[in-house]
Amino acid sequence: MIKFSDEFTFGAATSGPQSEGNFDKNHQNIFDYWYAKNPQAFYQFVGPDTASNFYNSYQSDLPLMKSAGIKALRTSIQWSRLIENFETAEVNQEGAYFYNHVIDEMLANNIEPYINLFHFDLPIELYQKYGGWESKHVVELFAKYAEQCFKLFGDRVKYWFTFNEPKVILDGEYLYQFHYPLLKDGRKAVQVAFNLNLASAKAVGRFRKILGNTDAKIGTILNLTPAYPASEAMADKKAAEFAEDWSNNMFLDPAILGSFPKRLTNVLAQDHVLWHATSEELATIAQNTVDMIGVNYYHPFRVKQPDISPLSLTSWMPDIYFDEYDMPGRVMNVDKGWEIYPEALYNIAINIRDNYHNIPWFVSENGMGVADEERFMDSDGVVQDDYRIEFIKNHLTALHRGIAAGSNCSGYFVWTAIDCWSWKNAYHNRYGLIRDNIHTQVKTIKKSGHWYHDLSANHILK
Ligand code: BG6
Repeated sequence: MIKFSDEFTFGAATSGPQSEGNFDKNHQNIFDYWYAKNPQAFYQFVGPDTASNFYNSYQSDLPLMKSAGIKALRTSIQWSRLIENFETAEVNQEGAYFYNHVIDEMLANNIEPYINLFHFDLPIELYQKYGGWESKHVVELFAKYAEQCFKLFGDRVKYWFTFNEPKVILDGEYLYQFHYPLLKDGRKAVQVAFNLNLASAKAVGRFRKILGNTDAKIGTILNLTPAYPASEAMADKKAAEFAEDWSNNMFLDPAILGSFPKRLTNVLAQDHVLWHATSEELATIAQNTVDMIGVNYYHPFRVKQPDISPLSLTSWMPDIYFDEYDMPGRVMNVDKGWEIYPEALYNIAINIRDNYHNIPWFVSENGMGVADEERFMDSDGVVQDDYRIEFIKNHLTALHRGIAAGSNCSGYFVWTAIDCWSWKNAYHNRYGLIRDNIHTQVKTIKKSGHWYHDLSANHILK
């Protein structure tokens, strides 16, 4: 039996583009655009147009979430819904009406809003006009949009986040071709990494001006994938060192410490791919660090020395310095293709405690995506998802050890509340505590949702 403190928050996470549906939206984001252009890129041709219909059903979805024990909900505002004119950040009134009501309904249901400003959903026109995150102009437009959000909703929202998983923007859009525009360009990825850090810092700066004298807090949400070497061999350890810097520290360091890891910038400079940055921009990053961090954790990052030398003639990609390593005997979620390794959450807790000033943090996503959950439905239509309960338990157990060791973690947010649309995978893997029948939009609490309710009521993990 493990006891979490009374202050510990049990919540859930989702995002605007994955839950709302496109109803009444004036602008397309990159996924809306990509789906309209190439629906076959998405599992069973299912796009973001309906998602889990949150736009129309938030008034009934939120009480359902409450019944599943969710005390705080992390979701995101869609830039493409809230803003009418991206250059001036003029607000779209319908968009503002929607988010105002969603926030009010959350509060009415005693669900604390955790609001994120960007979850992969770049307005397509900003890519078409400026190259999206390759452009410093877009960085400035993001800061203007953030400012509007703080002004509109800052009277009720206490927890703010600039980005969700900036690293995935690099991976999906600029390196490994799983998000539009499907590029493979390591040099651009490096610049985008810098620009995203700068955008986050600028948004933090606007936050300090507008909400700095309130009790509101701002952070960023990073997917941390601790890098483990395949062996104790020096070459494998070096590969893991680079993977750790590239995947985790390139975002953790500027967000919390205000500067980039020297070990990484040295390599990038030596390879002639280091980003363009002015001293003024570096000062902005140094001066605008976050109050807290959200950590999305799903799987570890096992690496080994690359099969071919980094000196081989090839275009620059970060993985010239490591190969991924499939550890024999690993526990897998085969549906998603991710290793299950709860111990990493303990390692993350200790890393934050020891190397990042023990900054306040929480698990902003963790969960298990499983295909064909109808397999596990009982005669009442309730998904008997014992595997999900087991997954959450094991991760909470590892996390609790980190907290007992002094790490400053204040909550656990499961991904996700209601089954939601998962980008290219659409509804292939379901993560929710609540099942969504996507044909009828009837939503039913799974066994895990009932279990989570008891957990969040008692704070006791049995
Ligand atoms: C995280 C994202 O990377 O993982 C979510 O923040 C995403 O948006 C989740 O849905 C699960 O991954 P996937 O690819 O199965 O949807």
